[in-house]
Amino acid sequence: MSKPGRLKKKKQKQLEASQAKNADRHILYQKSVQDTETEIVLMLEKYREIRGKDPLSFREDFCGTALLSTAWCMGDDRRTAQGVDLCEDTLAWGREHNVKPAGSDVTSRIELVNGNVLAVKQPGVDITCAFNFSYSVFKTRDILRQYFEAVRKGLNKDGILMLDIFGGTEAIDCVEEDREVEGEDFEFVWHQEKYNPVTNEILCHIHFKFDDGSVMENAFTYDWRLWTIAEINELLIEAGFSRVHVYWEEYEDDGDEDDEYMVGTGNYIEVTEVENQESWVSYIFAEV
Ligand SMILES: C[S@@+](CC[C@H](N)C(=O)[O-])C[C@H]1O[C@@H](n2cnc3c(N)ncnc32)[C@H](O)[C@@H]1O
Repeated sequence: MSKPGRLKKKKQKQLEASQAKNADRHILYQKSVQDTETEIVLMLEKYREIRGKDPLSFREDFCGTALLSTAWCMGDDRRTAQGVDLCEDTLAWGREHNVKPAGSDVTSRIELVNGNVLAVKQPGVDITCAFNFSYSVFKTRDILRQYFEAVRKGLNKDGILMLDIFGGTEAIDCVEEDREVEGEDFEFVWHQEKYNPVTNEILCHIHFKFDDGSVMENAFTYDWRLWTIAEINELLIEAGFSRVHVYWEEYEDDGDEDDEYMVGTGNYIEVTEVENQESWVSYIFAEV
């Protein structure tokens, strides 16, 4: 290759490297993974259905950047939130980028605690949530039951624990799955690197791929146990919850006559039996 050609390639490489290098992994995560509006609508709808009133106090376990806690408090000036996370750097990022910009009225109703969800005492709340499968860090029945017991003790008498869970025939496949993020210049990549059928442990990563070809590898890594709905159900009852509801997303035809492709409607209904799918995300809500 001629010298100018080499230089051009070098410059191009530097440019490519910079897009991934300059990106902030928390912003990328929030844009590609989190959908606080949908989660809040679902929490309110199901809480009202079960309890016949509005929830006001909220605890977000494994809160990360506390985006959900902030959105919760912004939606109604009577609402309060407590967010708990082990990682002080992530909490600090959330304080700076999510909580503070929401203004002093919101800031005064959010408490962020740097600690272990197993140990931090709950203030007595209407809802505790652990979303994006974060409780999967607990890999034994004993520890997960201990976590559920701690949550139950910290809920009001009308309190509800809200969890999400994923599964399906593809959930144990070691694959990389790319997804475009609407209106953004990057793709979200979910990478299941390992699955151990003896323990049901999985090792997963999130990578971000940019339009210029650069990649932010292992932006987040999760060393989890893949729990089943049945196991979670049993452990919630063993931990003293009185009733468990499982919600499954309704699907409809995508309208294209040339295929049999189904799309989620965003509407979740309570189920006791369903047909398995290649991949699904479901919700489990447990009453005190
Ligand atoms: C998958 S992220 C979840 C972020 C956010 N809740 C969401 O829905 O996207 C998992 C978070 O859990 C935190 N974490 C892991 N183990 C924890 C524990 N035992 N107690 C508190 N936080 C924990 C990590 O620091 C990380 O921020």
